[in-house]
Amino acid sequence: MTNPSRSALIDRLPKAELHLHIEGSLEPELLFALATRNGVAIPFDTIEAVRAAYDFSNLQDFLDIYYQGMSVLLTEQDFFDLTWAYLERAKADNVRHVEIFFDPQGHTERGVAFETALNGIEAALKAGEAELGISYRLIMCFLRHLSEEDAFATLEQALPHLERIHGVGLDSSEVGHPPAKFQRVFARARELGLHVTAHAGEEGPPEYVHEALDLLEVERIDHGNRALEDAALVERIAAEGLTLTVCPLSNLKLCVIGDITDSPVKRMLDLGLKATINSDDPAYFGGYIGANFHAVADALDLSEAEVVRLAENSFTGSFLPMADQIQHLAEIAEVARG
Ligand code: ADE
Ligand code: ZN
Repeated sequence: MTNPSRSALIDRLPKAELHLHIEGSLEPELLFALATRNGVAIPFDTIEAVRAAYDFSNLQDFLDIYYQGMSVLLTEQDFFDLTWAYLERAKADNVRHVEIFFDPQGHTERGVAFETALNGIEAALKAGEAELGISYRLIMCFLRHLSEEDAFATLEQALPHLERIHGVGLDSSEVGHPPAKFQRVFARARELGLHVTAHAGEEGPPEYVHEALDLLEVERIDHGNRALEDAALVERIAAEGLTLTVCPLSNLKLCVIGDITDSPVKRMLDLGLKATINSDDPAYFGGYIGANFHAVADALDLSEAEVVRLAENSFTGSFLPMADQIQHLAEIAEVARG
């Protein structure tokens, strides 16, 4: 149920977003505009038809449409426009820091250069920092349905740009593509000084979360829903203070949960886990970070203290230096005092 005081608090709280695929923020309106600008054919006649197609039974259903959507992204300007549109939405939700994913292989596979995506995204992130006051980190993901060799080739392409890329992640079709497949490429990324995170336990079993921790040595777990099936794993994640980047509306749209009231966010907090709220692919899942906060707070009747905790976790789970985290926490405390 909606609670006006809690709703106002959610809107006013400074937030960080730690799990956002920039290609998943491609709204149908921009999809059409870029298709027209670039002369790319898309299999939809109207924006309503696009939205109607966003009806998924599982992760793969979504991914098929997500990769198709990327086909309109061709130039640096396209990537700039995409990223800028996301940052304006984030600003409206009081987001102060973003750690966004991009999928280089989704572009290089289509003949779009690694640098075209990187330059456009980064230019918007820099403009967002200067004009909107939103700091950022950029994380490149390896597509796990592709080979280890392909991931290594992608890491190679990143080498001249390591000062512009802060971390690596692992996304795409989870089941059948365990973290073990990418153990060596993650080891190399860590050697290069990159942060490491991975999607684990979204559809995949708790064993994949164990592997992400043991073999990839991830600093965060993206999603992590199915970790809750394994009590020893829960204890370990809590003891190590690892952050889980939970995506409530994504979980609902991809049928990871049957109803928003089944979101694991409150259970995770009750178990002492550092859960955060994120939007994943907001253009496809029906809402940005603010909408995700409101959806779980209302469905799970979160206390104001829990809502504040989620905002705090978003900064303490970020890759920001401690001094910056402390500054954000102080601002949260001020907002929480009212
Ligand atoms: N790529 C974009 N969104 C994703 C998700 N939720 N899971 C795995 N890969 C993704
Ligand atoms: Zn994701």
